Parts: sequence; structure tokens; C-alpha cells
Amino acid sequence: MSKLTLRLKTLLDELSPCQTFADVGCDHGYIAENMLKSGKCEFAYVTDVSPVCLQKAVDLLSSEYKGRFKGIVCDGLQGVPKVDQALIAGMGGELICDILSRADFLPERIVLQPMKNAEKVREKAVKSGYKLIKDYTFVDEKFYDVIVCERGKDSYTQDELTFGRDNLRYKNPAFRQVIEKKIQVLKTALPNMTEIDSATAKKQIEKYTEILNK
Ligand SMILES: C[S@@+](CC[C@H](N)C(=O)[O-])C[C@H]1O[C@@H](n2cnc3c(N)ncnc32)[C@H](O)[C@@H]1O
Repeated sequence: MSKLTLRLKTLLDELSPCQTFADVGCDHGYIAENMLKSGKCEFAYVTDVSPVCLQKAVDLLSSEYKGRFKGIVCDGLQGVPKVDQALIAGMGGELICDILSRADFLPERIVLQPMKNAEKVREKAVKSGYKLIKDYTFVDEKFYDVIVCERGKDSYTQDELTFGRDNLRYKNPAFRQVIEKKIQVLKTALPNMTEIDSATAKKQIEKYTEILNK
């Protein structure tokens, strides 16, 4: 079985056991391989908009998992049969929002890992009828956000949208590092800023400090 990076392992851990699973934008196919191998899903759809990327997953799964997976070249969730659970990871937040907007269906459970614009993804997930059951920052050389959603009602405050609800509640070390880094960047830039920019930056520093100390 392929060795997973810490990022992929974190995503795998956030996926629940299910009958049918789709990895949207699967590329290498490592997550589907692990889901099938561990029996965490009965059947996996590996999908990608790029035939070349999809072929990597198909090649990986073909010998051991014949009859338990299907590869589909498609755009997002368009053309994917209804599944219990989906993963959309390693893409920009705006693309993930787009995929949710254009989806033929929305699964009961979905795990999202945007590379940026996590705030937009949180907002879109809530508007799409999901409850965000986990939402936190983690580190694997770089910092990432993972957002675990289940069908249901939710309402997020502006701070929760901006920072992530679990980050505000638990302030794990990865989140602390992200915010401390933002404060440091602003403090370093302050001396070269105009008066107006410096006033805005100081307010931002205050906000970040308040978030860390709340
Ligand atoms: C950086 S890779 C991430 C692969 C894997 N999901 C991960 O997290 O390691 C992004 C993949 O998403 C695919 N992709 C981009 N836009 C897509 C779309 N609209 N629908 C499906 N796949 C897409 C790309 O072809 C690429 O294989």
C-alpha cells in the first residue's frame, strides 16, 4: 500500500466508514487505495478532470481492486453517481466552491481540504446545507485546513468563517503558529507603511492577538 504523507493521513482519518466513496480530483489515488484496503468503503469512484491524472489512480487500483472501483473523467461532482461520502482535497477554495455549486448531487458527508480561501469554502458549505462538524488547521511542512461536513443546518459567525470554528475553540499549535506568523509579518512591515496602512495593520494585529488570548 502507498505510504501516505501526513496531509493525506489526516484526510484519511477524517473520512468515515461508508458504502460508496468518491475522491474528486483524485490524481494519485492513494486515498481510495487506503479506503478500499482498510474496508472503510465498499466501493470507490476515483474521478479527475484530467485523464492523465486519473490514469495514475486507475493504474494503482487495477490489479488489487477490480470490481470495487471505477475511474471517471469528469468535472467535479458532475457525472459522479450518488455516493455516501466524498473527498475534495488539494484544490483552491474557489474551485471547491464552484464544484459544490455545479454538483449534480451533494453527498451526506463531505471532507474538504482547500489549499487557500478556506473562509469561502466554510461559507459555501454552510450555504449548501452542511453542518461543519470539524474545521481545523494542521501542519505537514505547510499549513492546511480541513473541513468535515455532514448534511444539516449550521450557522457560522464571521470570526468562525475567517478562522475556523475548532481553531477558535481549541487553538491548536498549528493554528497558533499561523496567527503568530501573521502578527510577525505585520509587525515587520509596520515601519515601512503609510499612516493609513499602519492603522489598519495595527487593528489587524489587535484582532489576531485577541483571537489568540480569548
Ligand atoms: C493537486 S491535485 C490534488 C490531488 C489529491 N486530491 C490530493 O489532495 O493529494 C489536484 C487534482 O484535482 C484535479 N482537478 C482540478 N480541477 C478539477 C475539477 N474541476 N474536477 C475534478 N478534478 C479536478 C487535477 O487534475 C488534479 O489531479
